[in-house]
Amino acid sequence: MNFSINTSALSKIQTDLLVVQLFEGENKFEPKTRELDAALDGLITEVVRYGDFTGKSGQTLLLFTAGKVAARRVLLVGLGKRASYDLEKHRSAIAASATAIQKYRIKNLAVASTIVLPKRANMETAIQNLMECLLLGGYRFEEYKKIEPEDQTWPIESIQLLPAKAGDRGAIIKGAARGRILAEAVAYARDLGNHPSNVATPAHLAKHAVELGKQYPKLLKARVFGRAEIKKEKMGALLAVAQGSQEEPKFIILEYSGKRNAPTVALVGKGITFDSGGISIKPSDKMEDMKFDMAGAATVLGIIKAACELRLPINLIALIPATENLPSGTAIKPGDIVRSRSGKTIEIANTDAEGRLVLADALDYAKQYNPSLVIDFATLTGAIVAALGDDIAGAFVNSDNLVPKLHAAAAATGEKIWPMPLEPEYDQFIKSDFADLRNIGTVRFADAINAANFLKNFVTAPWIHLDIAGVAWATREKPYRPKGATGTGIRLAIEFLKNYKK
Ligand code: BES
Ligand code: MN
Ligand code: ZN
Repeated sequence: MNFSINTSALSKIQTDLLVVQLFEGENKFEPKTRELDAALDGLITEVVRYGDFTGKSGQTLLLFTAGKVAARRVLLVGLGKRASYDLEKHRSAIAASATAIQKYRIKNLAVASTIVLPKRANMETAIQNLMECLLLGGYRFEEYKKIEPEDQTWPIESIQLLPAKAGDRGAIIKGAARGRILAEAVAYARDLGNHPSNVATPAHLAKHAVELGKQYPKLLKARVFGRAEIKKEKMGALLAVAQGSQEEPKFIILEYSGKRNAPTVALVGKGITFDSGGISIKPSDKMEDMKFDMAGAATVLGIIKAACELRLPINLIALIPATENLPSGTAIKPGDIVRSRSGKTIEIANTDAEGRLVLADALDYAKQYNPSLVIDFATLTGAIVAALGDDIAGAFVNSDNLVPKLHAAAAATGEKIWPMPLEPEYDQFIKSDFADLRNIGTVRFADAINAANFLKNFVTAPWIHLDIAGVAWATREKPYRPKGATGTGIRLAIEFLKNYKK
């Protein structure tokens, strides 16, 4: 995909589709739009006057230009009322155009951007946002489908950005470059999550990590442990989950050096490439979705990819414990007790609570880097889906000052989080009669908190645990989020890390 900036009059823009944004209830257009309207013999004025287009947030109307202007089609997009125009409204408008772009199989488009800056946004962030939503709105996963070439809509080939003022050039170029990098990182993570588990194995994740290392040799060092090294590391909890599977587990390490003397943040991603539940087997209904149980790993890989592209001035350690969770003659059984890398013993009362087991060893491994912050991304519990649904991630933090910073990043990206408690009163529920810890609660409530409380035993640094079980996988479509893997967390994390100070 290439993008360019074009400051010509809108009537002179050659493109398959020209996107023009309008506010609700306004019939006096911006100067550039007025020029286009005149060239179209007042067509835009007409459709507004007759109420065919009102400018409601997310409304679109496609106009054919019958050769009156250089663009073949004009897409009007509603921004809603000027007074309430913010980044989220901007995102909906752009996402709505992405839907039309899909429908009409547009590969080359031009966007008249951006008339007025959304609230709390500057030109750079507004354009970044625009690029992200435009590109992600067009995302499709079609690797296993026969698609006729003319039906192929992803990726978009070219985007022209048409600023209202020529002077905005620098900010537009910067914002567009950032937006594109982030969209590509999210698409990368979505692809990883959408591949079936017979393709996206632990080895497949490891291969991607190694490839990233080769792509950015100056910034990134990749290492992968196989079963033997994992044993040597005494990662007994990860090994326990892996012992039921024929696929070799991998422990993936990526070290990103963005800036000497900058803080080090460890990123841990749950990499269960298929979660059958193991001997505590899951019901078969919807079990196929459990190929996405490595979404945390995909998010972490996406963050590293974006960090490399952006040369993020920070140091990152990515740790991914990757394995399948299957039942077999060699699988762990309920009641088994294993010794984790930290030395703490765990009674595995339920083999389906496998995420916290593999994370325990990864979180313990992170300690040697002495990170100033640890963030883990994990599709950890069904309970967080019940509590917060598919649009809000559960955020557990052990240091309260992190919450406002997370909220700020969430507000900027639209990737919502909600704080959840690491309730000490509930620590008793994960005490075992036979081991130091028990991997599920003795009560069947507060599952998401019990899981987070379990992880708490393996961290010493400031820590954010994001339970992304709800947000990582979409069973309903939203404009810039088709069904399947969503890649949620990457834009949030990059926004958060951009402003992170020890
Ligand atoms: N990967 C699942 C969590 C999950 C469930 C994600 C549904 C998305 C949708 C996790 O490994 C799991 O199975 N958790 C159990 C824990 C329980 C046994 C305490 C759960 O939430 O049911
Ligand atoms: Mn499970
Ligand atoms: Zn799982």
